Amino acid sequence: LIGPSSFITEMRPYAFAQIDRIKDDLKSRGVDVIDFGVGDPTSPTPGIVRTACKEALDRRATSGYPSYQGSDEFRASAASWFHRRFGVELDPEGELTATIGSKQAIFMLPLAYVNPGDTVLVPDPGYPPYTTGARARQGGCHYLPLEEDRDFYPDLGGIPGRVSSRAKILWVNYPNNPTTKIASSSFLKEAVDFCSDNDVLLASDEAYSELYYDEKPGSVLSIEGAEEVSLVFNSLSKRSSMTGHRIGFVAGRKELLDPFKKVQTQSHSGAATFIQDGAVAALSDETHVEELRREYREKRDLLVKTLEDIGSDGVYAEATFYIWAKAPGGMGSLEFSQKLLSDAHVNTVPGRALSQDTGAGDRFVRFAMVPSLEETREACIRIQKMEI
Ligand SMILES: Cc1ncc(COP(=O)(O)O)c(C=O)c1O
Repeated sequence: LIGPSSFITEMRPYAFAQIDRIKDDLKSRGVDVIDFGVGDPTSPTPGIVRTACKEALDRRATSGYPSYQGSDEFRASAASWFHRRFGVELDPEGELTATIGSKQAIFMLPLAYVNPGDTVLVPDPGYPPYTTGARARQGGCHYLPLEEDRDFYPDLGGIPGRVSSRAKILWVNYPNNPTTKIASSSFLKEAVDFCSDNDVLLASDEAYSELYYDEKPGSVLSIEGAEEVSLVFNSLSKRSSMTGHRIGFVAGRKELLDPFKKVQTQSHSGAATFIQDGAVAALSDETHVEELRREYREKRDLLVKTLEDIGSDGVYAEATFYIWAKAPGGMGSLEFSQKLLSDAHVNTVPGRALSQDTGAGDRFVRFAMVPSLEETREACIRIQKMEI
């Protein structure tokens, strides 16, 4: 028998397959399920991006492998956007590299920094590749619960010395999926100091930096001392509705970035050049991002009000395109998610399914505001009619 590796056999199964079963069953019976499950934008990619990609296909008649670190134009445009947005200067030659979206880069980072037996510090609930990337290197994960009573911040001061002494990477993700939290600069400074004191790499996943409503999120790299210890992961996926294009970048000091760039040369052959041209067009335009923020705000206002009306006393929607809502009436996350699906035909993700092992998230469900405004209105009407 040709058996798979322990990486595969030990991979945690999706804990709440029954939610998917109910959803599939309803859909097969022709029920119109409004799906706030997966965080994949349904808004079209902006016209300027599509045009730039099409033009690039003809301009670049010869294919050729792309550059591993991204084209000069892409890196220059990402560096200049980063400067405009965060006031941080990056050398496009040494301090920035293109990725085929953040996911692969996040999964691969431990290959550059983690040895078997090392520890990776991971927020919980959190994005699964923080965990699987560490496991692929036979690293251990130490989970940092994001609890409501700590304002969803991990307790860095509470990490035991025996854990911090083996830690190689601390993942932070702000604005946060799923809690929607924007980090205060004092928390980011605490994370920088923790990493400096313990020789830990601060890996900052900033995929949602452009999806905000009022307060503008900062980047870790604008915090004093951060350049010594931090790499930032950003992506065009959410900012410009480009999840299908697979393009992003990692930024940070050359000495920290170089080991990661070596991994990139072995694990893929660069982002498609015509997609990088599309990303240059996307980064040079803020109008479509403002429009996107306006659309998400309209949906957020409707859903927040509805969830408060039905009795949730913890509805969080500070940034990102998620809503993190506490189940009303003392329900658990799975129970509330199932009820939304069965009674209102509204699909969500139970917080428990996003949590690795701390149980943080047990009382919450996540809405990804990807259905249209019309569908969101309809969902709110159905939710209002539910009996809690
Ligand atoms: C927290 C977080 N980071 C990173 C990503 C990956 O984005 P991409 O690979 O499309 O750049 C996602 C996608 O949903 C995410 O939620």
